[in-house]
Amino acid sequence: MKNKYLYIQTFGCQMNVHDSEQMAALLAGSGYKTTDNLKMADLILLNTCSIREKAAQKAYSELGRMVLLKNQNPELIIGVGGCLAQHLGSRFHKRIGHLDFVFGTHNIHRLPEMVAAVSREREKITRTDFYKTVHSIGIYAPPATGTASAFVTIMQGCNNYCAYCVVPYLRGSEMSRPPGEIIEEIKKLADQGIKEVTLLGQNVNSYGKNLEQYLNFPALIRKIGKIPGIKRIRFTTSHPRDLSPELINCFSAEEKLCRHIHLPVQSGSNRILNLMNRGYSVEEYLQKIDLLRQACPRISITSDIIVGFPGETQNDYQETIDMMEKIRFDSTFSFKYSDRRGTAAEKLEGKIMESEKQRRLKLLQDLQDEHTLAKNTELEGSRQELLIEGKSKNSENDLMGRTSSWKIVNFKGDQALIGQLKQVTITKAYLHSLRGKLLEEVGNVD
Ligand code: 5AD
Ligand code: SF4
Repeated sequence: MKNKYLYIQTFGCQMNVHDSEQMAALLAGSGYKTTDNLKMADLILLNTCSIREKAAQKAYSELGRMVLLKNQNPELIIGVGGCLAQHLGSRFHKRIGHLDFVFGTHNIHRLPEMVAAVSREREKITRTDFYKTVHSIGIYAPPATGTASAFVTIMQGCNNYCAYCVVPYLRGSEMSRPPGEIIEEIKKLADQGIKEVTLLGQNVNSYGKNLEQYLNFPALIRKIGKIPGIKRIRFTTSHPRDLSPELINCFSAEEKLCRHIHLPVQSGSNRILNLMNRGYSVEEYLQKIDLLRQACPRISITSDIIVGFPGETQNDYQETIDMMEKIRFDSTFSFKYSDRRGTAAEKLEGKIMESEKQRRLKLLQDLQDEHTLAKNTELEGSRQELLIEGKSKNSENDLMGRTSSWKIVNFKGDQALIGQLKQVTITKAYLHSLRGKLLEEVGNVD
């Protein structure tokens, strides 16, 4: 039988990256091998994101390009999934005429059935129903050879309804996965050589709320910490409001929990945080940062910030800058506010002009670059443990690994080291990465 090839393009967050891994695993069962070569594909999937308009536009322009491929090969099947697919549903077919099927965030498990129906009948399909349980949550995606790090979904959806955010509408309400299933999956991954797991959810701090037998997030971390073979645990994303003292304590008590937290603050103005419906004040956020740094002095803290939320004055913006000066994040992802249909913020007065949002973003990013470089420079001369992820993007001859604090380190080393934990000395700091030198001897890391 002729080989069938699948090409998947992923937009957006780590959740989407993992969903794509699950899609590939599921379609392997229907005989599809994944390829990086678009021209070889018999089936193309675009896993889309709609959190900001820019992400949505990228997906449209990619799909536009694919019309040529479809003209050359009428047998080619093209499907779109993810948040934009959930949002548009059958309207996607009207917008992009050469699409074959559209599947929403709860319908990944139906992919083989949809692909088979398209191949058989060449009909246009849309599946965007929501279910009480997300059937795809536990699809096992076997790690690729040589990989030492894997994502594990622990919950799905979000109940927070931050005023700017479409996620609760597109991924449904919050649902935790039973701990037994999570532990089984991680044991299986460990048996296949995985050393690091990243636990995924929109708001992992509220893990466990809908479980029959209640187990909270810190207790889940402690259970995972006991699995042989797993050396590192990460998680994303945390909501500052739900970051409990018990979880903060894990950063000192749980040896395997990495020294990094991504804690999106969004704004440094209490007035704007209130309008955003975030449920905490700047003072409360600062207090949690203090507690985290007391529990784990070398913890790295990263965040998300939105500039130009409706009604954000120069004074509100200055408060965000002042907060950044106080905290000095290791790095931040910062965004211009983007109006999303159906959200509470869409209806607010006081929308900020694009040019002003751009000005605010640029100044904020320049300040963050200063902080990031200063933080990285503090690490020069220190000894760090790396999980070696693969070849460096910068040079064929270098390897790349991550520190416990999530920083990228490039260094010279043998490719046989990929997937292993090794120690390096940091020789030079840059804005986006560090340079290291492999250490032969084993000792304490800084
Ligand atoms: N506009 C700009 N940024 C947004 N984010 C979410 N929704 C929007 C929006 N409408 C950002 C938030 C969130 C990150 C994933 O994306 O900062 O934490
Ligand atoms: Fe969106 Fe807020 Fe939920 Fe994060 S916590 S996914 S920003 S609604």
